[in-house]
Amino acid sequence: MDWVEGTSGVIRFEAERRAEGNTTGLLVRGESADALRALLDGELPVPEDSGLRGAVQAVYIDPPYNTGGAFADYSDKVDHELWLGMLRERLHLLREALTASGTLWLHIDDSEMAYAKVLLDEVFGRENLVSAIVVENNPKGRQLGKFFAGSHDHLLVYARDIRTVRLEPASAEAVNPADFPKSDERGPYRLLPLRNTNKKFHPGSVPTMHYGLWADGATGRVAADPFEGAIEVFPVFGDGSSAVWRWSAALVRERADELLARVVRGRGGERLDVFQVDRLHGERKKKLRSIWSAAEVGSSDSAKAELKKVLPGRQIFATPKPEPLLRRVLEAATEPGELVLDCFAGSGTTPVVAERMGRRWIAVELSSATVDAHLLPRLEHEGARFEVWRETSLAR
Ligand SMILES: C[S@@+](CC[C@H](N)C(=O)[O-])C[C@H]1O[C@@H](n2cnc3c(N)ncnc32)[C@H](O)[C@@H]1O
Repeated sequence: MDWVEGTSGVIRFEAERRAEGNTTGLLVRGESADALRALLDGELPVPEDSGLRGAVQAVYIDPPYNTGGAFADYSDKVDHELWLGMLRERLHLLREALTASGTLWLHIDDSEMAYAKVLLDEVFGRENLVSAIVVENNPKGRQLGKFFAGSHDHLLVYARDIRTVRLEPASAEAVNPADFPKSDERGPYRLLPLRNTNKKFHPGSVPTMHYGLWADGATGRVAADPFEGAIEVFPVFGDGSSAVWRWSAALVRERADELLARVVRGRGGERLDVFQVDRLHGERKKKLRSIWSAAEVGSSDSAKAELKKVLPGRQIFATPKPEPLLRRVLEAATEPGELVLDCFAGSGTTPVVAERMGRRWIAVELSSATVDAHLLPRLEHEGARFEVWRETSLAR
């Protein structure tokens, strides 16, 4: 099955299997761009909801990497420009589907990683890059590689809007209490600069985050609006050049009691600055590192072993992703009940894990053979309640 461009002309979808009552999922046999357009236009039903636009909390996609090879289930070789054009079109559609706090996770390997990254910068905006995570997929390394024994691929993570994104990439490790050296009657805390210390963010790149806050050095009080005794404070870097805050004025209004004004001594003498009071609460975990080891998230081999257990005696899908990887993504990016979308679903790791975690999901897969041999049996084994729709304009 080749990667095909969406059908031009009339595109129709028909129900292959309807479900009574509440469903958590929608499986579409069809082409990703066709399905996304139909979902955005309301021609396909979003589980327990009315529409797709602005409704998806996390998109995870693992499109063919364009390695130049061919797998039993799909071809992985198309012209580079064509591949980029297809990805661009789908990224624009996926961006429309995301909520203001949502994220997109693109899994890719060295073949097209740099091009995909530039494309994501173009479609989502450079400022919306969250991380380019390195994912170890083969701890021994592929000894068949010509020079190096390939052992990783990449997960590019972008926010729909970095200012309003909601992401909690927490590890299993508890934070070190020694990192919270201050203490008051409410317990240990640390002071974090409210100024964004990343030089990439400045009034030229995020003008809306450069604004004056009102602060009183004597009481420590900070507010988004003027009050008696307050002076206006703008964010500056150590060298005195203009910086931006990490919080919008709206967030400051909501959480002003977590902010504190302090006099600091800089190169230009004393000035007032604003800090976030970051408290150590009981369950606080360390942030996830941006390198994910196979021991933590599984490998290509462990993913195939998982499938063998679920569907014994069958031909195994060529390139499944491991379930712990998807669990980690969905834990960081979504809450129960929220909507997850994968429009290159393959053997269905994303919908299966989403189902298990109580998320709603939409999965699109072009190859009917893959849907029948892998996706449907896997979802059925999971006991998922979902509808299946089929693109009728594609004769596959
Ligand atoms: C790398 S696999 C995804 C594997 C999946 N993450 C898993 O865990 O099994 C890519 C899948 O995208 C599908 N595909 C390729 N082009 C597509 C398109 N235009 N629309 C929808 N699916 C497509 C292929 O048939 C293949 O099953």
